[in-house]
Amino acid sequence: MFYLTYRPHTLAEVDNVIVRDTLIHILKSKQIPHALLLVGPKGTGKTSTARILAMSINCLNNAFSGKGESIEPCNSCTNCKSIENSSSPDVTEMDAASNRGIDEVRTLIHDASFSPIAGKYRVFIIDEAHMITNEAFNALLKTLEEPPASVVFILATTNEEKVPRTIISRCHKVVFGKAKIEDIIHMLKRIAKEEKIVLTEEILQLIARHADDSFRDAAKLFEELHVQNKLDTIRAQEYLGIRAKGTLITTLETQPLDKTLAWVALFSESGGSIKYLIEDSLKELRRILLQSHNIPSEEPEIKTTLSPQRITSLMRLLQEAYINLKYAPVETIPLEIAVVEFYNKQK
Ligand SMILES: Nc1ncnc2c1ncn2[C@@H]1O[C@H](COP(=O)(O)OP(=O)(O)OP(=O)(O)O)[C@@H](O)[C@H]1O
Ligand SMILES: [Mg+2]
Ligand SMILES: [Zn+2]
Repeated sequence: MFYLTYRPHTLAEVDNVIVRDTLIHILKSKQIPHALLLVGPKGTGKTSTARILAMSINCLNNAFSGKGESIEPCNSCTNCKSIENSSSPDVTEMDAASNRGIDEVRTLIHDASFSPIAGKYRVFIIDEAHMITNEAFNALLKTLEEPPASVVFILATTNEEKVPRTIISRCHKVVFGKAKIEDIIHMLKRIAKEEKIVLTEEILQLIARHADDSFRDAAKLFEELHVQNKLDTIRAQEYLGIRAKGTLITTLETQPLDKTLAWVALFSESGGSIKYLIEDSLKELRRILLQSHNIPSEEPEIKTTLSPQRITSLMRLLQEAYINLKYAPVETIPLEIAVVEFYNKQK
């Protein structure tokens, strides 16, 4: 899978420019904070970065072990390799989504009192840190305040607001914003080069803009389009429902039920993705809704005869269909239900 194969393994491969520069700055200062908090939305590189940091400060072939100036992990020494395959005695990864209680945290604190074995630092990566219980956070607090000299805690979270202030204030915070279009494109180019796939600027833009601000989603979409041989603009647009979103809404607006159902069937049979169709239709309806309330926008105005009530009702139905997509035995079913209910409500 592209998103796993091309997970960044060096600072240079972290495609989020701001984060990369921040990390380089921290590592070059040689004053490694004892606790870092990596904050940001899904798929923006928090876990990858935590591992790169752990490798960098424990690498046997870089500045941290007195060899040269580079702060990059070499990716080939025994320390880098064991961190990469999660067998390092010095690096512990804890997924707080499943280990969130006081016992797990106590074990971790206990382990932190031992000196590192193979590298310079013991690193504790606590992923999904916001899931930790209050009691466990309290236990952690003391250790974060006065950690043993060779210990680094790296907490990663998508929900900073659920992490206690007292914890946040003891951490050096690194903010991972939403993935930027140009950074995503940089990642896509990196993957394309390795895979020897030629991508047009148009396709790059298309993928980056449909990636939900996430590097992971972008890598997945790229792979989806590649596997299905849809890496040209027209086929990709069809797949993404871009060519169809206007048509779906117009069809709902102007045609009888049987015509709309036939349209959905045809769209799906000709290779369109229902998921992206619903996503784009919802985005379009949202634009119409905001415009009808005079919220300023740079996008051109969309004309519609649907009343605001009909628009919100359709949005609600499509939203529900979107959620149900995951469990649908046939991809079109949730959308078909939404369409039928939309017409039923008209009566
Ligand atoms: N900054 C980045 N540069 C390059 N690739 C990235 C970056 N961030 C994420 N990716 C891609 O997305 C995948 C997932 O990244 P990662 O697991 O580090 O994200 P995360 O922020 O921990 O996400 P989550 O919050 O869902 O755990 C990586 O394997 C990689 O393919
Ligand atoms: Mg993660
Ligand atoms: Zn190394």
